[in-house]
Amino acid sequence: MPTLHQFIDESITGAVTEPVKLSEPVPVEQLPTPALIIDLNLFDQNLTKMHHFLDPRGIGLRCHTKMHKCPVIAHKQMAAGAVGVCTATVSEAEIMQVSGIADILITSAVVTPEKIDRVLKLARTNPKLQIVVDNIEVANRFNEAASESNLELGVLIDLDPGMGRTGIEAGGPALVLARHLANECNNLRFDGLQMYAGDCMHLEGFENRREKYTGVMEKGAETKSLLEEAGIEVAFFTGGGTGTFNIEPDVGLMTDLQAGSYAFMDIEYREIGGEGSDRFDTFEPSLFVLVTTISKPQQRLITVDAGFKSFASDKMVPEFRDVEGVIYHWGGDEHGIIQLTNPSKEISLGDKLAMLVPHCDPTVNLYDYYYPVRDGKVEELWPIAARGRSQ
Ligand SMILES: Cc1ncc(COP(=O)(O)O)c(C=O)c1O
Repeated sequence: MPTLHQFIDESITGAVTEPVKLSEPVPVEQLPTPALIIDLNLFDQNLTKMHHFLDPRGIGLRCHTKMHKCPVIAHKQMAAGAVGVCTATVSEAEIMQVSGIADILITSAVVTPEKIDRVLKLARTNPKLQIVVDNIEVANRFNEAASESNLELGVLIDLDPGMGRTGIEAGGPALVLARHLANECNNLRFDGLQMYAGDCMHLEGFENRREKYTGVMEKGAETKSLLEEAGIEVAFFTGGGTGTFNIEPDVGLMTDLQAGSYAFMDIEYREIGGEGSDRFDTFEPSLFVLVTTISKPQQRLITVDAGFKSFASDKMVPEFRDVEGVIYHWGGDEHGIIQLTNPSKEISLGDKLAMLVPHCDPTVNLYDYYYPVRDGKVEELWPIAARGRSQ
């Protein structure tokens, strides 16, 4: 019988992180549903578009893998030019590291002894691992643990953008913490600042988003200046996401953008509007759930095999990729009821249809693997190896 830590360790080293090649291609119509599918052409385009935008502006992409939880995708993003990855949890970082990625920033606070141990275990073989801290006491705990392991750990200070969720208050309190790191924590290397204004990402209307976000980030700029005036170098400034990718150059703070959703997109992001457009369509939805119609209980209704267990239901409802004039209603764990108001094409029993997801991150967490589709065929599976790893 394993101890808890042996069990966790084995689940990490045993995780399948590479693509699983199929002996023969499978046509998309033959996939068992509900199936999480990626349109590879659109996915590739999204990756390229982000780099075409960021690279000439001197901003690195430190893509957030909390969105896709898949090492295969993280490697593709690195190959496309990302400078590193972010993870939200220690266990996501463990999966990314075991897959061979070293440039990892854990963007959420880690405070308990068992998780600090796990971070140091990663750092023992990965000098590039970085964490965030927002508290002197926690910094001391990390420093002690790093000193016992004879390691130096890269640390960024997490600034509260005013959301009141995580982070230390910008300005004076952040300076006190930075001084403490620089002067009292010999085993922590101060690498810079993180400020993620999550409440700005989905603000509707580009001008509205730009105005509010620019205002919020002023505190980040002031804090950076304060530290520099005190002789503390701020090598990195990281944060931001898909919703602010094209606002960051004017704000002028980010060295590393933490965008995640840009690779898949979702209905929530589409609806916030883009620059000069009421839809945010710079990046196109590349992630879909393939569903099957399984019952026609009434004349104007048809039921699909995908409900709460197939789509995250924290936002709006799913939409068909190619059928308009219908409305999806949640029908329970395994069912969605389609109201056939004025369908743009006939839907029959047994049809397989692609649906856009309302919110990509929590939807992905419901599946074991992606089916990447090109030319109507699937040639390999991409394991969602960090799925369920919320620790
Ligand atoms: C800390 C942090 N950075 C970046 C992101 C990425 O945001 P997006 O998926 O909107 O690009 C998130 C998403 O929730 C986040 O929590």
